[in-house]
Amino acid sequence: MRLLFSTLGACALLAFASLATAKVFTTSVVPQDRIDVLKVYAILAGISYETLTSWDCASCAFFADTQLADYFQSSKNRTFGYVAVNNPLKQVVVAFRGTDNAEQYLTDINLILKKWPDSVEDSKVHDGFLDSYQDVADNLYELAAKELANNPKYNLTIIGHSLGGGVASLAGVDFAMRNKTLVSIMRVVTFGKPRVGNQEYVEYYNSLNITTDRVVNKNDIVPHLPGNFLGYHHETGEKWIKFESNGNLTLSCPQVDNKSNPDCSKSVRVRDYSREQHHWAWNIQL
Ligand SMILES: *[C@@H]1O[C@H](CO)[C@@H](O)[C@H](O)[C@H]1NC(C)=O
Ligand SMILES: *[C@@H]1O[C@H](CO)[C@@H](O)[C@H](O)[C@H]1NC(C)=O
Ligand SMILES: *[C@@H]1O[C@H](CO)[C@@H](O)[C@H](O)[C@H]1NC(C)=O
Ligand SMILES: *[C@@H]1O[C@H](CO)[C@@H](O)[C@H](O)[C@H]1NC(C)=O
Ligand SMILES: *[C@@H]1O[C@H](CO)[C@@H](O)[C@H](O)[C@H]1NC(C)=O
Ligand SMILES: *[C@@H]1O[C@H](CO)[C@@H](O)[C@H](O)[C@H]1NC(C)=O
Repeated sequence: MRLLFSTLGACALLAFASLATAKVFTTSVVPQDRIDVLKVYAILAGISYETLTSWDCASCAFFADTQLADYFQSSKNRTFGYVAVNNPLKQVVVAFRGTDNAEQYLTDINLILKKWPDSVEDSKVHDGFLDSYQDVADNLYELAAKELANNPKYNLTIIGHSLGGGVASLAGVDFAMRNKTLVSIMRVVTFGKPRVGNQEYVEYYNSLNITTDRVVNKNDIVPHLPGNFLGYHHETGEKWIKFESNGNLTLSCPQVDNKSNPDCSKSVRVRDYSREQHHWAWNIQL
């Protein structure tokens, strides 16, 4: 069923593409030093799966001079994560955990789009992600703002893997709406993020100019869910880890979530989608 719908969705997109004004998007190779920085964020995303009482987990040892400010979970236990202050990187890190059954969650029949943010016309997001986020939003924002006030030269990095990546997108928008000047020191980095909102949502997200790295690992299935045909689209900032027989190439794909750039993750065929690749970013397991 899903395969049939995806095929129809792809046809509809292609038909639309031929009508739309062609715009050229330039794919570029992500240099190794940028990849090394993104790998650091991948390790920080992985740490969101730990139940932390202090900064003392096995992977925590990669990050010296870091303090745990909070380990949080929502009342319905849907959202987990941490806030940490990393002094060597000069960053306040907010990280969201995913869940074990992302694929099941996203192919569920009740994918309901809910109006959000209220002030943005026609913008809608998945109500499960929104529910998860709103439960922790006020406390999280206040804590991040407090840590930034205590550490005036520090930047804010919002990270998430899998469903946690969807929540990170909402947090980025919410934080930017609460305080516009935060955008200049904020970065959103996601790994294996599913689609979270409609076209109006992603256009609003993109208009905020939040520095965004949306890392897609090879043929990971989750970034292809929920399908475009259900009205879901991705934000900008794709960094696609392409599988090449002679090594691993990472491409920066500035286009929004449509077929206008055939070099990036949208080129993966439905029959090649992989669950296993959802749990990797380069050589880091998530
Ligand atoms: C793809 O997305 C870009 C950026 O939003 C847009 O300019 C372009 O028109 C879109 N192309 C199609 C075919 O929808
Ligand atoms: C959430 O998890 C805590 C333990 O960490 C448990 O005490 C609580 O009952 C759980 N809440 C729900 C709604 O499952
Ligand atoms: C917004 O964020 C900036 C940067 O952290 C901070 O300096 C400023 O005080 C904040 N403004 C408000 C109204 O919270
Ligand atoms: C904070 O972010 C700004 C803007 O992206 C950047 O120029 C600056 O180098 C960053 N500072 C740190 C300590 O990462
Ligand atoms: C985002 O950047 C564009 C292009 O530089 C600019 O026109 C726009 O005003 C910026 N948006 C915000 C919210 O700063
Ligand atoms: C490419 O990625 C695979 C895992 O997906 C890894 O085994 C291999 O060592 C990587 N190759 C290079 C050149 O990094």
